[in-house]
Amino acid sequence: MKQINIVDSKNHVDEKVQIGAWLTNKRSSGKIAFLQLRDGTEFFQGVVVKANVDEATFQLAKELKQETSMLITGVIHEDARSKFGYEIEVEAIEVVGESAEYPITPKEHGTDFLMDHRHLWLRSSKPHAIMTIRNEVIRATYEFFNKEGFTKIDAPILTGSAPEGTSDLFHTEYFDRDAYLSQSGQLYEEAGAMAFDKVFSFGPTFRAEKSKTRRHLIEFWMIEPEMAFMHQEDSLQVQETYIAYLVQNVIDHCASALNTLERDVDTLKKYTQLPFPRISYDEAIDLLKANDFDIEWGADFGSPEETFLADHFDKPVFVLNYPKAIKPFYMKPHPTRDDVVICADLLAPEGYGEIIGGSERATDYDYLYSEVVKAGLDPKEYSWYLDLRKYGSVPHSGFGLGLERAITWITGEEHVREAIPFPRLLNRIYP
Ligand code: 4AD
Ligand code: MG
Repeated sequence: MKQINIVDSKNHVDEKVQIGAWLTNKRSSGKIAFLQLRDGTEFFQGVVVKANVDEATFQLAKELKQETSMLITGVIHEDARSKFGYEIEVEAIEVVGESAEYPITPKEHGTDFLMDHRHLWLRSSKPHAIMTIRNEVIRATYEFFNKEGFTKIDAPILTGSAPEGTSDLFHTEYFDRDAYLSQSGQLYEEAGAMAFDKVFSFGPTFRAEKSKTRRHLIEFWMIEPEMAFMHQEDSLQVQETYIAYLVQNVIDHCASALNTLERDVDTLKKYTQLPFPRISYDEAIDLLKANDFDIEWGADFGSPEETFLADHFDKPVFVLNYPKAIKPFYMKPHPTRDDVVICADLLAPEGYGEIIGGSERATDYDYLYSEVVKAGLDPKEYSWYLDLRKYGSVPHSGFGLGLERAITWITGEEHVREAIPFPRLLNRIYP
């Protein structure tokens, strides 16, 4: 007997096959039982007709408990009425593992309850759809950067440096000295770019932020490209091309998942149209003031400001050249103004806020040394990083995409915790 996955049903219409599956739900009458099945690849229905199976099989079908695992033998049929388009007419059921009373029933549950059961909740159709899209974003990321000639250089997770400020570091002991969990792989990617021209990292990063917002995770995954001999404008083009590529690949490869999430594909298609608009921080402040925001030049944007700006353009928008005082030490100073740096944040529409932070990097040894000191950092710890400006320093730029922020936006979910299999939040490290 041929064992197949549900997702491949279309290639096996009218064939007798076997599927390893779990029961998600069922309903039955005296003559027919409908089994809602999932096998990890897709969800579809099994139909057990009393007249066509032996008495014991029909009885078993009626008594199966939610999440029982089994080997189902039957014939695949097209089924125009179902969302998936195919079903299986069941001939035999072999139980593999019985299930106790499953806590997640088809009724509504609160978020805390579901998050406490995240290890089981991942089986449900919505988290399954989101993780399918996460997987596609990761796949397309590797494809994009490989096509564009980038080399993946992995950054360490245990580190002595703090590129994004010292306020939200996770401290740990490293034998007889202090260390932190990485906030960003950037500084290491800069070393990589001087060795490989174009590089990227993709790894977990940590921020001990006491923020309890729908955009903040304590542990999140970041994609950090870094490019030698590249100025800001070329970096912005890489960024927008990359984002459009991710969205297009999700549209092309995740139709079923987008459908499950009821994400409007026409809205997503707008985000593949390049270029993305660009405005300066100065212009953004003027625009906000003209629209009754109570904000002064020099302030960082909060969620309402970011939401307004991206919705104003109805597309992701680059905000360029923020005040130096609110950005990290490594950004390139502006050639004619000493109050701003050469950087850009990419703000996503529909209220998702900053999905990319990036900049051109300072290239001058003395300037960077003094910025390290001004940031309250120990130059000895950054001696290796400063070396990069001692031996053939070149213009270079890079950026970081927050994977979960991007996925929350692409999937249209409310909260960034939905975009990672096991979220770490201010009040959650279980399961
Ligand atoms: O803007 P950030 O802090 O920039 C950096 O870390 C740079 N070193 C990146 C670089 O240039 N290589 O973070 C980059 C992105 C943000 O735009 C956001 O999408 C995401 O990381 N991010 C978070 N995502 C979830 N939870 C958090 N607490 C996040 N903090 C940042
Ligand atoms: Mg940022």
